[in-house]
Amino acid sequence: MDDLRDKYLTLINDAGDEAALEELRVQAVGKKGEISLKMRELGKMTPDERQVAGPKLNALKDEINAALAAKKAALADAALEARLSEEWLDVTLPARPQRQGSIHPISQVTEEITAIFADMGFAVAEGPQIDTDWYVFDALNIPSHHPARAEMDTFYMHRDEADERAPHILRTHTSPVQIRSMEKQGAPIRVIAPGRVYRADYDQTHTPMFHQVEGLCIDKDISMANLKWVLEEFVKAFFEVDDVELRFRASHFPFTEPSAEVDIQCSWEGGVLKVGEGDDWLEVLGSGMVHPDVLRNAGVDPDEYQGFAFGIGIDRLAMLKYGIPDLRAFFDADLRWLKHYGFAPLEAPALHSGLSK
Ligand code: DAH
Repeated sequence: MDDLRDKYLTLINDAGDEAALEELRVQAVGKKGEISLKMRELGKMTPDERQVAGPKLNALKDEINAALAAKKAALADAALEARLSEEWLDVTLPARPQRQGSIHPISQVTEEITAIFADMGFAVAEGPQIDTDWYVFDALNIPSHHPARAEMDTFYMHRDEADERAPHILRTHTSPVQIRSMEKQGAPIRVIAPGRVYRADYDQTHTPMFHQVEGLCIDKDISMANLKWVLEEFVKAFFEVDDVELRFRASHFPFTEPSAEVDIQCSWEGGVLKVGEGDDWLEVLGSGMVHPDVLRNAGVDPDEYQGFAFGIGIDRLAMLKYGIPDLRAFFDADLRWLKHYGFAPLEAPALHSGLSK
């Protein structure tokens, strides 16, 4: 029995992997294993012999089983150890320059805009890019015969003639998020909604997909004066200038009354755009006081609440701020362009650290 014990303990100790260990288990304590067979021989012994050999064999079997289990655990530990030392990753290393991606100017500008409005208490709202014509047009006071509907060059989703559901379209502006957020949250409300919008148009300053940010502020005593202040603060912060003049031009949008288009003061001296100086004007956004019908369509009582809304072209702002001449290049996914105009990935825009530094 001592020989058996020594033999198996040595073999188990030397086993190189789990398969070898399993073989040893079968050989020693499996059904036809050496130790099992010995146990069967107990039946042929005299009672006296059995009384001595029985417990010894049982103890041996237990010892072998324990040795097998311990070796199995040690092998598993060693395998894990080997894997860990092979697959390690030093997360304290700085990102290697040759592997660094860059932040797309649209993402950068969206983050900048969000940081500025967040500082003024605006939350970020979202809505679907595929929406119904109720949210994109009707609820915003643009009925089916309205010319604004044709001006928007809408993409319609395909649908079967028998389909009776409301037509789905790619949203032509972010204004439907006004309706959706008021439905959800009611008033008072203060949100911006950045996102993708779609129109069938393509030239140096138009792409079929582009980006807008919607703004909405509704409460009991919000006026045009609040709108003017918010937009002035925004433009100064965004273009990182101390002072800038805004020009409000009377305009028309079905969802606002009164409506204003806003221009910012700029100069084009030497072909370089400078915001906040000179005597040229640049149109940057549409805005106005939200039309009572729009509030009503979204479940807000216009006798109790009022407020302003605005819509800004994000791509347009990115072109202006970072001197990017052609909008189409934004979406060509040209690596050289991205390297040139992209932003460092580890520096999130924040007002306290400087938006674009
Ligand atoms: N939705 C308009 C567009 O895409 C932009 C706009 C104008 C949004 C005035 C507004 C607004 O919220 O008040 O052309």
